[in-house]
This record gives sequence, C-alpha cells and structure tokens, in this order.
Amino acid sequence: MGQTLTEKILDDHLVEGDLTPGEEIGIEIDQTLTQDTTGTMVWLQFEALGLEDVQTELAAQYCDHQTYQFDFKNTDDHRFLRSAAGTFGAHFSRPGNGICHNVHKENFAAPGKTLLGSDSHTPTPGGLGQLAIGAGGLDIAVAMGGGAYYVEMPEVVNVRLEGELEGWASAKDVILEMLRRLSVKGGVGKVFEYTGPGVESLTVPERTTITNMGTELGATSSIFPTDDQTEDYLERVGRADEFVELGPDEDAEYADEITIDLSELEPLIATPSMPDNVVPVREVEGERVEQVMIGSCTNGSYEDILPAVKMLKGNEVAKHTEMIIAPASKQSAEILARQGHVAELMAAGVNFSEATCGACIGIGHVPASDSVSLRTFNRNFEGRSGIEDDNVFLCSPEVATAAAIAGEIVDPRDLAEEYDLEAPGIELPEKYDGSKADLISPDEAIDDELIKGPNIGDVPLKDPLGDTVGGETILKMDDNITTDHIIPATADILKYRSNIEKLSEFTLSRVDDTFAERAKAAPGGVLVAGENYGQGSSREHAALCPMYLGIEAVFAQSFARIHKANLFNFGIVPLAIDEETYAKIDQGDDIEIVDNIGEGVRSGADEFTVSVNGEWEFTAELDASERERDILAAGGKLSWTKQQAESG
Ligand code: F3S
Repeated sequence: MGQTLTEKILDDHLVEGDLTPGEEIGIEIDQTLTQDTTGTMVWLQFEALGLEDVQTELAAQYCDHQTYQFDFKNTDDHRFLRSAAGTFGAHFSRPGNGICHNVHKENFAAPGKTLLGSDSHTPTPGGLGQLAIGAGGLDIAVAMGGGAYYVEMPEVVNVRLEGELEGWASAKDVILEMLRRLSVKGGVGKVFEYTGPGVESLTVPERTTITNMGTELGATSSIFPTDDQTEDYLERVGRADEFVELGPDEDAEYADEITIDLSELEPLIATPSMPDNVVPVREVEGERVEQVMIGSCTNGSYEDILPAVKMLKGNEVAKHTEMIIAPASKQSAEILARQGHVAELMAAGVNFSEATCGACIGIGHVPASDSVSLRTFNRNFEGRSGIEDDNVFLCSPEVATAAAIAGEIVDPRDLAEEYDLEAPGIELPEKYDGSKADLISPDEAIDDELIKGPNIGDVPLKDPLGDTVGGETILKMDDNITTDHIIPATADILKYRSNIEKLSEFTLSRVDDTFAERAKAAPGGVLVAGENYGQGSSREHAALCPMYLGIEAVFAQSFARIHKANLFNFGIVPLAIDEETYAKIDQGDDIEIVDNIGEGVRSGADEFTVSVNGEWEFTAELDASERERDILAAGGKLSWTKQQAESG
C-alpha cells in the first residue's frame, strides 16, 4: 500500500513505534522553533536538564509576542534569550524582526524536514512541505537536546482541492470554509494533507495561510506537497538548493476525504468569538467598524499587505475607522518600504506597527469597548484582544481593507462596484531580499553565558506521584476553555512568563479571580471541565501554573492535544469523564480517587474509581502511553528526563 506524504516524512524520522493511527510514535526532530513567551522557560529547562549544546540541525529563537518594552522585564527576557541562543547554539531573531512562523518560513523552513515548535501555529511551513508540529516547551527542550518527540500517530485526511480561486475569494476563505464545515474540534488527532488539481494554483504564502490556521481546527499539522510553486518560493527567498520534490504515493490511503472546489468559494468571515463561527461576509454587511488590522502569522506578510496597497490607491480609510498594519516580518515591511508602498498606505490613513504578534494577544491596539474590530488574524476568542466585551471578526486582507474603506463590514464584491476596484489577487515580491541584520546565527553569537535579570526565576519541580490524588473541586468550567482563559497572554501578565511564582497569581483569573488564592490555600485540588479543555496555544504555563498552585488532576470530557501533553509533562493527571458525570459534579465537591493512583498509573490501569464527597462514585479514564505514565509517576517530564539520563 502506498504512503501519504505525512507517513513518508514520519517514516523517515521514526525512532519508535509504527505508523498505526492512535498509537504513540517517537520521531527525530530536525529543527526547533521557540518564541519569547514560551522560550524563556524552554531554555531554563534546557539548563536544568544539564544540556550543553543544541543537537538538532537547527534551532531558532524568536522574540515576537511581547516586543514592546514597557519596563525592564521584557528587555531582560529578550537579553536572556539572546544569551541562551548564543550559549547553547541557536539562531536568534531580535525583537521587531517579525513573527516566528513568518521569519522561519522565509529563512529556515525546508521541505521534508521535521520542525517542532513551542507555539501552536508551528504547522505554518507545512505550506512548503515541512512536517511541523506545535508542542509544549519542555518537549522542545528535550528535542533540542537530541531526544525524540512523542506524539499519537495522527489520522491523515485528504483535503482535495479542485478548481481555482476566483475574484475576491482568497486562501483565508479556504481555511475559513474548513472551519465552517469541521469546527474548532474537527481536526483533533488529524493531519490535513492537501492534494488535488487545485493545489498548483496556490502560491506558498497562500498555502501557509491555510496550514497556519489548521491549528484552529485542532489539527496536529497540515501539509502540502512540493511542486513548481515551492521551488519558485525557495528561489525567491534565496534557498533554491533546499527544494525536494515530495508528494503522496498515487495509491496512498487516507482516513477520510474532504473536497473543496476553490472556484465556488466566496468571501467568508468568522464572527465573534470563535474562529469557527463562519458565515459569508454578505450575511453581516452593514456593521459599523471602528478598527481594522492586517497582520499576524496568518495574513501579515508582503503578499497580505499588497492587496491593501492596491485597494487603497486613490481611496482613504473611513474617518471613524482606524486601520493598522503590523507586518509579520520586518523583511516584508522593508520590501514594501523600498517600493514606496508604506508611504502610500500612510497617506491613505493607515498606521504602521513594528513587526510583532502584539495585538493578536491583546498587547497594543486594544479595540474600544463594545466596538467591532476586523482582523486578518487566526483567533478571536473572547477577551483575547485585551478587552472582555470585544467583537473581533476574522477575515482576509481584502475583506479587512474593504471594511476600512467603507467604515462598515461589506462584501468586497459590492464595494468593488461602487469604487471601481479590481480583485487584487496574489503577488509575491521578485526576491525576498531584506536585510538579515536582525538575525544572529550561532557563529555570530555575542554571549557565551546566560544573563538572568531579577524577573527570571527557577523552574519549579513536582514530587513523584504518590498513592492519592484529589481534593476540592476548586473550579468547574464549561466547554472549550482555552489556554488564554488559563493563563491570559495580555501585556500586564505575560511579563511574568519567566517568574512562575508571580505568574501563577493570574491563573484562571479570567474565569474566577479568586481561583489562584483558593487553589494555593487548599491541600491538593482538582479542576473539572467540559469538552476540548486547553484548546488554543501551546503555552505550557497553562499546566505549569496550576501545578505550582497544587492542582493534582483535571477531570474533563475531552482535552486539546498539546495541553494534555503539557499536563503529563508537569505531573497533573488528565482524566476523562462522561457528560453525565460532568453534569453531576459541582464546584466545591470533594473528589478523591479511591484506587491507589500511583500504583495504577505505573501498572497500566486505565480506569479509576472516584468518590465525590464520600457520597457517590464515578469512573474516570486515563488514556496514556507507557511513556506518559512513567512521566506522571516521576512527577513530570523534567524529573523523568533527568532520571533517564542518570540511568544511562
Ligand atoms: Fe503570534 Fe498570534 Fe500567530 S500571537 S504566533 S500572531 S497566533
């Protein structure tokens, strides 16, 4: 039987297991990527593991999420990251150089290689045939040390593209259509592999918009085959020699197949406050818009800004609307500036930000209360923009620019008639030939020892798993709790990312602001949640901080992939419960696992009897591999990895 492209790359990198869907496999990692909010902890863990040099082919450390320097904390973090990259042998991308996925795509992503990144949108370079997976920081630290990465073998789904995009439909509409059909849970345990005759019409930047937002489907990764478009892109970024022809075998078998006819797509928009609340733009026309933003790792590059240049020629941003462009890479901004487009956009009423994630996580450009903001980003979870009563819509650069001109949501097809606009289409720069001044390679490193400012703490450790786990239900939560709910990523909180004692005070504060205090005071303690607990980012702080506060187990109807791995990594027991049990448990209930949990975890038990207030009982399930059980038993992955190293 032939192989899918995903299977081929995994097979090439396999160090443990076979490719049976649902079974755990270990793979070798070629490249790693870390960003500033997750990276400080990764390098502290790398140090705590006693590792001395990066062992992967390439490691890159970016400073993109929190680049504004409000006080010494972010600056100290950036300096620490530069010193860590220099000391251990990673590339360092300075603050302002751009968003990790975009800078990585332009400089390092390579077809056929594996990439592991401590950011949930790591799958972005799947658009040029790289198998890229997002993971918790500790998994990255271990991979950088030469250890394998373990993941459940995903099902590979064939997304067959037919036809070509026409008129005002864009790559963003392809992935919004996927979200409309499949929802934010539709990709859990899956890799989406794009095939079919429609693939060849899409440029690499269009493909990476699609693979980037596969994360919103909950997918392990998304990938395109390589072809002339890939070769063309690699030539433009000056790395033509890295092209390899890759694709599935003709007789490859897929777990499922989805067909999208590109020629039938129309401009779509995700309405507040979930990326899968997708409707045609025409359904929400007329809503007054106060802010428009082009940026983010999804649609923030040269190719995403150029449509705004074309559409705003001879036009202006509406007077009651603010339009901001935050380029995804400084290189994109530099090329646009050289072409004179930055000046043209400014003259049309657009404001420019530095190349950063910033507003995507509520850092800067926070919308006014109860106002509509249209963004080309990938997430619109409630409150993520920095204000609780936000109304963030997600759309393509074309739809965003149309709204900026009209001052209200409008289908660009309708605006085109009134303003005599032509669909801008996609256009790549001749060459991506920006300066590399902000990239420091390991050979150019300026530090050879770690520089830790006062806000950089230690990595907390947990004791090995004992015989009992439980305590008060400190918090009962609904479905789809995101890592943003658990540890908000806003500026006032993120600055403590290297200081767990301080950061933990904000744990789940967006759900209940007494949580941290109550959790810390209680002996033990558990969390209860509905479906898809921990969706969103790869932020391991969302497991690390609850662990620090003494949370011993999470009972949920289901878990998001990366967050579940993070719970294992920090010694918190993730247990699955059914809907009926979820409904019966109340906040404040005293929950104790009746069976000896330590013994059960070690011996492979997958069901545990749990008592509630000593009055009624239910069964909770532990779905864990042997390796994950060992990690839990050791009190987390840091202790486990050290044990492994000591025992040779
Ligand atoms: Fe940054 Fe937002 Fe992407 S935080 S990495 S732009 S999802």
